[in-house]
Amino acid sequence: MNRELITATYLQEKGTPDTAIILGTGLGIMEKAVTAGTTIDYSDIPGFPESSVEGHSGKLIFGSLGGKDVVVMSGRFHLYEGYTPKEVTFPIRVFHRMGIRTLFISNAAGGLRKDLPAGSMMLITDHINLTSLNPLMGPHDATLGPRFPEMTAPYSRTLNEKARNFAREKKITLHEGTYAQVIGPSLETAAETRMLRMIGADAVGMSTVMEVIQARQCGMEVLAISAITNNNDPDNYEPATIEEVIAMAEKAGPTIAKIFSGVLEKK
Ligand code: HPA
Repeated sequence: MNRELITATYLQEKGTPDTAIILGTGLGIMEKAVTAGTTIDYSDIPGFPESSVEGHSGKLIFGSLGGKDVVVMSGRFHLYEGYTPKEVTFPIRVFHRMGIRTLFISNAAGGLRKDLPAGSMMLITDHINLTSLNPLMGPHDATLGPRFPEMTAPYSRTLNEKARNFAREKKITLHEGTYAQVIGPSLETAAETRMLRMIGADAVGMSTVMEVIQARQCGMEVLAISAITNNNDPDNYEPATIEEVIAMAEKAGPTIAKIFSGVLEKK
């Protein structure tokens, strides 16, 4: 049996949710919105990689949100930690093998537009992969999906519409835009920030795109929201510290959880 199946078989006994939710840096605070059932440390899950990064706790929570069964990944795996694209996306393939059809993603990101200040939120409507890597590189596993998955609409239009409507109803300002993934861990220079703006990125971060590509190959519907933790203005560039990033993510986290819950209620 392959490693994904071993992990999926183990986890299936803990619950059979339809939706998986990934919590980004500083967004562990969103756990509070989830009615928790079983919690399992990554280190206790057969086959699961371990996460070590600041602002991430490294556990899987089976519970409910918006009246629906969910599994929450508190702590994700990043390329900058040295994980390969295949390791970063291992949990997504496990979720697919568990029968999970929907993936909600949150992340911390740097805002590249003036109207995306620290503390704001952005619904991701498209992405730019700036890692020069791809989780689908290597031998093809046809049981996951197509070799060449199309990427015309990686972020579900239906789920985006539900998120938009919910935000409007609740008077939550939810910006929209394109997310660019870089590898990190160093942050962008002013020149790189100018380039990111020029090529059409609205926010930049060190996650998400790998996971979305894997999820789309598996046919999952994706909804993703960035917590904008700092604003990168190349003409007035201020360093962003990890403490600020975590503090701002914690500020946006409860609202992102509310949006996810609202979308789940209408699912
Ligand atoms: N750049 C890259 N990743 C990030 C940033 C940023 O400015 N803020 C939070 N994650």
